[in-house]
Amino acid sequence: MHDVIINGETIHEMSKLEAKSIDLIFADPPYFMQTHGVLHRVEGTEFQGCNDDWDKFSSLNDYEGFSRKWLTECRRLLKPSGSIWVIGSMQCIYTLGHVMQELGFWFINDIIWHKTNPTPNFTGSRLNNSHETLLWAVPDKSSRFTFNYKTAKHLNDGKQLGSVWRFPVCSGSERLRDSQGRKLHTTQKPLALLERIIAISSKPGDLVLDPFGGTMTTGAAAKKLGRKYIMIERDNEYCTYGQKRLDSVSFEDSEISRAEFDVKPPRVSMIEMINAGYFTEGESFTLKDGKDPAYLQADGKLIYHDEVFDMHTCAARAKNLKAKRVNGFDYWHVMRGGELVSIAAVRENYRAENKSPCSDLTGGNVNC
Ligand SMILES: C[S@@+](CC[C@H](N)C(=O)[O-])C[C@H]1O[C@@H](n2cnc3c(N)ncnc32)[C@H](O)[C@@H]1O
Repeated sequence: MHDVIINGETIHEMSKLEAKSIDLIFADPPYFMQTHGVLHRVEGTEFQGCNDDWDKFSSLNDYEGFSRKWLTECRRLLKPSGSIWVIGSMQCIYTLGHVMQELGFWFINDIIWHKTNPTPNFTGSRLNNSHETLLWAVPDKSSRFTFNYKTAKHLNDGKQLGSVWRFPVCSGSERLRDSQGRKLHTTQKPLALLERIIAISSKPGDLVLDPFGGTMTTGAAAKKLGRKYIMIERDNEYCTYGQKRLDSVSFEDSEISRAEFDVKPPRVSMIEMINAGYFTEGESFTLKDGKDPAYLQADGKLIYHDEVFDMHTCAARAKNLKAKRVNGFDYWHVMRGGELVSIAAVRENYRAENKSPCSDLTGGNVNC
């Protein structure tokens, strides 16, 4: 099941999903803000902050108990290679982080979302609250999670991406309105924030879950980037508006959505290249100096000084290295057109001339 909004209570709905089936979770849960009454701007107009029933709990214990239940479900659903991102404010992030650590999640980063256009502190009674925190975690310390490092760098004008992110809060035409023109949702998150999270911590075709869908920002970002999604939301109205929003979004093919900067090229075997005529049985492989050749066998191994080795072990021997094996593609050369050429260059040539239509579309990341 994917590309759906499930209208229901999140813990109950998550319990029906298959264990270890989700690649990425983004959770924007109730914050338990404990705000009371209406806030007024300096000029007297009302400010619609988050005072929603879904954000109310009887006590911190009650809130912590709820958090523990949905985070336990998240842990059950995440693949061993999956990631979870949880967003929160000072009212909840410490509780959420504490529960996550107790459940065994391993933190990768905490990210400050610095709001470039924060809601002012109308009364001037404390600092203007201009950030929220995102916790990025994986199932355990040894998890081999997706991090599209080069994509993150590309998104940051070629510089390594840090843990303070500057985005405006959702406003203007991005903000969903109800039939009376009021804000549909008090806590709609910016699409750009979700796009960044999905682009850097998932692969094309991955399945993204959002247990607290709201206006379906996560689904919109996932669809735009060619990921699958499951959104859970209890409120009918949010689901209806959210479905319209998702229907209006399309996949946008780009270097980012293809994770092109980080995709590893498909593996190619020597035998495959010999069979395709890119190398010939009996031809000589040498180091850069062109001396002391090894000879290629039909099975991709090399004969060197009358002994047979795989080409990685043989490269270590020929280089006289302490290491038993090195990457042979970094060392061996062959003659092409009267010049010594690295076998890695021949392999690149093979890849370029034998690209499957599938790897063109997905960067080789997805089974299709
Ligand atoms: C903080 S908002 C999420 C906003 C969303 N990220 C967006 O960009 O629109 C939390 C949402 O979770 C929903 N919610 C709260 N408790 C829930 C529960 N137990 N089961 C399902 N949905 C719930 C609320 O109705 C609310 O829309």
